[in-house]
Amino acid sequence: MKKHIFLIGFMGCGKSTNAKFLAEMTGKIRTEMDDEIAAEKGMEVQTIFRKYGETYFRDLETELIKKLAFREPSVVSCGGGAVLREENVAMMKEEGLVVLLTASPETVYERIHGMGDRPVLKGNMNVPYIRELMEKRRPSYEAAADFRVATDGKTAEEICREILELVSAQT
Ligand code: S3P
Repeated sequence: MKKHIFLIGFMGCGKSTNAKFLAEMTGKIRTEMDDEIAAEKGMEVQTIFRKYGETYFRDLETELIKKLAFREPSVVSCGGGAVLREENVAMMKEEGLVVLLTASPETVYERIHGMGDRPVLKGNMNVPYIRELMEKRRPSYEAAADFRVATDGKTAEEICREILELVSAQT
C-alpha cells in the first residue's frame, strides 16, 4: 500500500475506531488528525475551538494535510470537517485514496452523545440537528469520496475488510 488511506465522514461514523483496526490489519501507521493537532498545540480540540475559533482549527487541519505528503503512507482518521475545504480534498486526492464512512443520524447520536467533546454540536446534541448538519455537509463528503462504506450494524472487522477490498486494486 503506497498511498495514504483517508477515512472521512461525519462525527461518530467510526473513523477513529476503524483507522485503528485498519492500521493493525495492514501494518501501517495511523494518523489521528484531531489527536495530532491537539498534541502539537498542547490543548484539546474543543479548547482550540473555544479559545481561537473554528477558522483557526481549520487552518491547522490544512497544515497537517500538507505535511502528510512528506510522510510514509498511513491510515488517516480525518476530523469530520476536514473535507469542508476544497483545498484539503485536493491534497487528500494527491496523497492517497479517500474512503467515506457513513452512519445514520440515530447511530451517530448513540455513539457520541455522552462524550461532550464535539464543539460543532455544542448545545445541539440531538438527532434532528445531527441529521440537518449531515445533510448540509453531504455534498462535500460525496464529492471527496473515492469509495463509500456504510457502517451501521457492522463490526470494525467487517468494515475494514470492505475498505480493503475497495482500495486494494488501487494501492
Ligand atoms: C469536527 C469533527 C471532529 C473534530 C472537530 C470538528 C467537525 O472530529 O475535528 O470537533 O467539524 O465535524 P471527529 O469527526 O473525529 O469527531
